[in-house]
Amino acid sequence: MFDSGLGGLTVVRALGELLPAEDIVYLGDTARVPYGTRSAETVVRYARGCAALLLEHEVKALVIACNTVSAVAVELLRAELDLPVLGVVEPGAEAAVRAAEATGARRIGVLGTAGTVRSGAYPRAVGRLSTRFEVVAQPAPLLVPLVEEGWLEGDVPRLAVERYLAPLIEAEVGAIVLGCTHYPLLRPLIERAAEALAGRPIPVVDSAEATARQTEALLQERGLGQEPGHLGGLQVLVSDAPASFATSAERFLGYPVRELRQVDVVLG
Ligand code: DGL
Repeated sequence: MFDSGLGGLTVVRALGELLPAEDIVYLGDTARVPYGTRSAETVVRYARGCAALLLEHEVKALVIACNTVSAVAVELLRAELDLPVLGVVEPGAEAAVRAAEATGARRIGVLGTAGTVRSGAYPRAVGRLSTRFEVVAQPAPLLVPLVEEGWLEGDVPRLAVERYLAPLIEAEVGAIVLGCTHYPLLRPLIERAAEALAGRPIPVVDSAEATARQTEALLQERGLGQEPGHLGGLQVLVSDAPASFATSAERFLGYPVRELRQVDVVLG
């Protein structure tokens, strides 16, 4: 599994809870984070470098935990690599369609990085599943640094969240997708703010959980699942180890990282 940085550990956490027998090698490209503000061409180059490094670890499947990479590079990596590749956009879109169908709404809201929104990946993924929904996507760039700083509650994140949610609420969306690795940590605040603005609860879909479920289905379907008795381990690789690494990693993962190594991601 790889991500631009440590945010993808939210997907590791969801996967670890659902599939505790699986061994996970996680690569965070902390030397190059953030990806969300960069061009699609640059993100594709970074993604190829990350995938090549993980292939050296003889992985049986590749999960792209980063929404920005999933938005611009999932098809390409599927075509180039000889193993199953999962992104987070398709599972998130599927969960959102399911949640919105139950509400009778015509629109689905997405919060994501500028790169994810610009790519149009969520409208495409939702459009492949249902013609009923229009996607209203809102870039929410300030939420990434807020989460990195651990500002998950209080006036500052609340005001930022309300500002980003306002256009989605105005569009009367039936569900909101957290289309970025970092946003699940703000989920309680986002749920409360959405309810306060709309005057009713709005289902919030976490693509980390949806991706874990699709990974489980894929491993089962291809007979790639680990022996049930096995206790899965987690190895974390980073391309740079910033000073605040341990605290941020624990915030995303929910427990301390035990096995950590710094690596070089070689770009083509
Ligand atoms: N991992 C990115 C995503 O999910 C967020 C952080 C970044 O911009 O690199 O889109």
